[in-house]
Amino acid sequence: MPNAPSTMASGGIDPIRYVENRVVLIDQTRIPETTTYLEIDRCEQMADAIKTMVVRGAPAIGVAAAYGMYLGAREINTETREDFFAQLEEIAAQLRQTRPTAVNLFWAIDRQLQVARTATVPLAEIPALLLESAKTIQTEDVETCRAIGDNGLIALPSQPEKLTILTHCNAGALATAGYGTALGVIRSAWREGRLNRVFADETRPRLQGAKLTAWECVQEGIPVTVITDGMAAHCMKQGLIDVAIVGADRIAANGDAANKIGTYGLAVVAKAHNVPFFVAAPFSTVDFKLTTGSEIPIEERDSAEIYQVGETRICTPGAEFYNPAFDVTPAELIAGIITERGLIKPEDLSRFSP
Ligand code: MRU
Repeated sequence: MPNAPSTMASGGIDPIRYVENRVVLIDQTRIPETTTYLEIDRCEQMADAIKTMVVRGAPAIGVAAAYGMYLGAREINTETREDFFAQLEEIAAQLRQTRPTAVNLFWAIDRQLQVARTATVPLAEIPALLLESAKTIQTEDVETCRAIGDNGLIALPSQPEKLTILTHCNAGALATAGYGTALGVIRSAWREGRLNRVFADETRPRLQGAKLTAWECVQEGIPVTVITDGMAAHCMKQGLIDVAIVGADRIAANGDAANKIGTYGLAVVAKAHNVPFFVAAPFSTVDFKLTTGSEIPIEERDSAEIYQVGETRICTPGAEFYNPAFDVTPAELIAGIITERGLIKPEDLSRFSP
């Protein structure tokens, strides 16, 4: 029996909105305790929001950076073209330094630079073009996610009729302009009556699964069970999981996919238990310049994310820490990449290179 689709354009949760000359972000560091919003009207604030993960998730930080380019451009005060573009490059550099792994960030910044460079309007009108372009990137992302969600339906095993889908981190509406990638497939499966429930890895250390994915599911009445990351193998062995679907931050031309730390381990245990493992991502996440996943830069974050939970220190002083935020899943562990252009085998991805 199909479930009622959400009546809201983006699946009900809009992490980024442009309202009265400002960008309004849901503060993702405070969910689920409270839903608060941060108003951003300067590029520096946007860079800070990306760095501190107020806005996070590959497509979402791309959209945020696109708006950041506009916010920076509208403050440029110069008469000369040369000076304008020198300052715009500085704004781009500031945004590029925020987070290294998700390629959508760089993709969106480059797209905005291209809009500005190819503009045939007076300098004073370029910021307005960048605003329109940021809005377009945002709208396109929601449409792309909806297409990914629906394309994912063909990837789903035909049996059982109602599937239990395991996901890692948050690849939902919050991580995109709305609807989500991996969670987009889950939303479409729910709408079509093909979903039994979601198993959400809690996703140490930032807990995006426990905090964000579970919150999104509960908002829409999608049944969700949260497990710690180390429980996934056991759940698969118990036959509790029919399919695993995750998002991605950057995919190399050979289909190797970087995603939140723990994804690689999940893919290995999925293989060991014959659970199909899919990556759902838009083409803006594919970096055709990289031949393999070993070239993907992996962000390392503050050790406090490991030794501290909330305000409480959980580990003895004297220990050392290593905190890579992402890992790379080799293409051979991925059954298919669910994109806005359909389901693609990792080995076929390079055929789509522009
Ligand atoms: O560090 P984060 O929270 O930005 O990491 C996010 C992820 O790893 C997501 O799975 C990925 O960006 C895909 S989002 C559609």
